[in-house]
Amino acid sequence: MSKKYINAYIEDSVGVVQLNRPDVLNALNRQMVDEIVETLEMYDRDEKVKVIVVKGNQKVFAAGADIEEMMNESPLSLELADPFAVWDRIQLINKPILASVNGFALGGGFELVLHCDMIIAGEEAKFGFPEVKLGVMPGAGGTQLLTKAIGSRRALEWIWLGESMTAKQANEMGIVNRVIAPELVEEETMRVAHQLTKQAPISLRLIKESVKAAEDLPLIEGMKLERKNFYLTFDSQDQTEGMKAFAEKRPPHFKGV
Ligand code: CAA
Repeated sequence: MSKKYINAYIEDSVGVVQLNRPDVLNALNRQMVDEIVETLEMYDRDEKVKVIVVKGNQKVFAAGADIEEMMNESPLSLELADPFAVWDRIQLINKPILASVNGFALGGGFELVLHCDMIIAGEEAKFGFPEVKLGVMPGAGGTQLLTKAIGSRRALEWIWLGESMTAKQANEMGIVNRVIAPELVEEETMRVAHQLTKQAPISLRLIKESVKAAEDLPLIEGMKLERKNFYLTFDSQDQTEGMKAFAEKRPPHFKGV
């Protein structure tokens, strides 16, 4: 499918979104963000896709929102176009989203990473919010998502100082799942993605909903949601298959129904 600023393709049930504006370090202009979100939503609806991967290239993930596009905005032009509202839709994607990160993931690039469910990064990757140095602040979810990930004190330190963290630091703070040699990042991300494509899709979906709810709901409400989701899995053929396969001592074959 043809998009101007991304490559989108499906590989063995994995829907890939590759950021493709290398001349400006994958700076995210509005059209590019629209293309990313529309593709994520398309993959979420597509039965052929079980897991989604978002990646940059070997040198850079994304160096943030497009500063040139933004620099002449006014409060009113921003309020009317509301360019960051589209980012909210990423939070509504039901399928697992994996980020594969090499090089810079700054500003909007870091926000895009933080909107993903699992993050696999190269040792040289750098994450940060330099917006404060431009006299602005993160606007596509950064203050919320980083705070949920590492707490307000550490989030304030990083966002106030505008410094970049290494992949190792991001890993130690629980932001990044795995840090590996840069040349292995794509392969490892696809390996994890393919592992997930073998799991029961309904379980993956309900697990994602339940885990994300843990960040927002009071404990007792979260427990109720988890319980209902657990019960709901018993309406699926995959539950029957999973438990039958266990009893028959064979691997399950899940169908997503
Ligand atoms: N927007 C537009 N263009 C960008 C860009 C951005 N965010 N980041 C890099 N570019 C362009 C540069 O202008 C340059 O273009 P030219 O070749 O035409 O001059 C090209 O990409 C290469 O960049 P550099 O020469 O700067 O590369 P470098 O290796 O020396 O530095 C860098 C890399 C440290 C990432 C540096 O490019 C940089 O600081 N970029 C800006 C990072 C930033 O401030 N991001 C936050 C943006 S605001 C935001 O994201 C708001 C939000 O919450 C959504």
